[in-house]
Amino acid sequence: MAILVTGGAGYIGSHTSIELIQSGYDVIILDNFYNSKPEALNRIKKISGGDFKFYECDIRDKAGLDKVFAENDIEAVIHFAGLKAVGESCRKPLEYYENNIGGTVTLCEAMRDAGCKKIVFSSSATVYGSNNPSPLREDMPAGGTTNPYGTTKLYIETVLSDLYASDNEWSVVILRYFNPIGAHKSGLIGEDPNGIPNNLMPYITQVAIGKLDHLNVFGDDYPTHDGTGVRDYIHVVDLAQGHLCAVKKACAGSGLNIYNLGTGNGYSVLDVVKAFEKASGQQVKYVIGPRRDGDIATCYSDPSKAKAELGWEAMYGIEEMCADSWNWQKNNPQGL
Ligand code: NAD
Ligand code: UFG
Repeated sequence: MAILVTGGAGYIGSHTSIELIQSGYDVIILDNFYNSKPEALNRIKKISGGDFKFYECDIRDKAGLDKVFAENDIEAVIHFAGLKAVGESCRKPLEYYENNIGGTVTLCEAMRDAGCKKIVFSSSATVYGSNNPSPLREDMPAGGTTNPYGTTKLYIETVLSDLYASDNEWSVVILRYFNPIGAHKSGLIGEDPNGIPNNLMPYITQVAIGKLDHLNVFGDDYPTHDGTGVRDYIHVVDLAQGHLCAVKKACAGSGLNIYNLGTGNGYSVLDVVKAFEKASGQQVKYVIGPRRDGDIATCYSDPSKAKAELGWEAMYGIEEMCADSWNWQKNNPQGL
């Protein structure tokens, strides 16, 4: 029995595929390379020392998906494939709704038709919106998303819960990630954004390597310990291991379960800059600027449900997250 990993050539999917292969799973990766490169697949093989089947396929291509399910005995799907840039989603909402929601509906149709009813889905802390106080718990009301990307995650969670309500044979595990950073210890894979990064850590590493002049800190007047935004950063390898626990849960029986994957610790933008400087020995020039639209002051998880029910908790601290992000950037100044 195999695990199908959609979006497996991407940042989180590639790290998760390595952990799956190294744990003895039979892995099938599917990706359309919209935001990743074929070289990621070579790196997965090199690091894991194992092999896997690959399909260049779009999750909106029902016939293509039917072929993947017909040719393999797939027990469960870990569904990463999707578009994820918040700013871009405001400019291209239809593309986000079509790719993320439409693609997930098509994937679920193909799964249903093939009799595969176990899915682990990549959701986001963004579904908590701005009305809930941190630490965020899974039983808090979701909603109030501030951009189309976040809304796609919210709607997909609804699609999956309606699907489970219609047929209790489904096993759905929804994972709400906080802020994944870091890279594999080998330095062979990591986050490889196209163009100027939107997210904090790739921006910092590109300043450190000299590709960008300085970091713009988006606001220092938030009600936080130093005025800059506080987030729950999580090492991507911890996140990948969370998927192993989640897929075991999905395969153990039917149900609908939602888990936060975070560390429970909040770090400000300036905390991250300092931790990065210490871990890398590089100075990071920064300029304080205005707030970014849609940002909130503080967002961190209560990760206790994942610990209690999945037996998972994050192992790596901010020092290792920064050191591993730098190791990846230093070894791959131009990305893959
Ligand atoms: P990524 O862009 O690196 O990986 C996504 C992969 O999906 C890419 O390889 C891309 O080519 C592929 N893809 C996109 N649309 C596709 C389609 N229609 N058919 C087939 N493949 C397609 O992103 P990531 O950071 O690895 O994120 C993975 C998932 O986790 C996404 O769903 C994202 O929304 C979610 N997520 C990410 C973060 C984060 O900060 N990185 C936070 C919360 C949730
Ligand atoms: N920040 C800066 N300068 C930058 C980039 C970010 O000061 O150049 C600040 C932001 O204002 C925020 C913090 O750094 O306070 C983190 O920002 P990111 O853009 O790295 O991450 P977000 O918390 O805004 O959002 C991320 C993903 C979303 C996901 C969310 C929760 O981009 O897709 O985490 O999982 F939904």
